[in-house]
Amino acid sequence: MATTETYTLSDFIDDLDRITREETSAHRVTERTAPLLARLVRNPGSIPAEYLKSPEGQRGRYILHRAPRFNITSVVWRPGDRATAHNHETWGVIGVIENEIEETRYRVTEAGPGRAALETLSVTRHTAGGVSRLVPGDEVHGMYNPTARDTIEIHVYGKDLAGLKRRRWEADGTEKPLVSDKYLNC
Ligand SMILES: [Fe+2]
Repeated sequence: MATTETYTLSDFIDDLDRITREETSAHRVTERTAPLLARLVRNPGSIPAEYLKSPEGQRGRYILHRAPRFNITSVVWRPGDRATAHNHETWGVIGVIENEIEETRYRVTEAGPGRAALETLSVTRHTAGGVSRLVPGDEVHGMYNPTARDTIEIHVYGKDLAGLKRRRWEADGTEKPLVSDKYLNC
């Protein structure tokens, strides 16, 4: 861990580089990353301000660092923005910089072609400084900003999600293909 008083994005990248070299288990990578991301999101000054706002008319999403073993993005959810249940095909760690996000975790049981039964496992309001881990077996979630303000997050994933084939489900369990746009790392 860096010894400087202020933990910067550059410190975080160095730590992620080391952790993802030392660990192969998604459980261990996310376990070690979570407290570091919690530290980073408490220092929003380390992220350039232009990456922490939503452009006119759309959700904000910016790549902060791309590396072979991990990717870091910022995501800005506007009031009412929602992502229905979806998977990630990799590990993830999500930290809230500002405001709050409602995360719903699901258990997915296949129920025929293009259909699944979604069972809600938990609904959590993550507030500023809060961190959420996604690991294989427990990585299907939905996200929602129920507030009247923008919510700013940092997302870290074990893969670049852009172009990755993933899955998402409507509330009634209908499956839809999901191929992430560039930087739509949610
Ligand atoms: Fe997600």
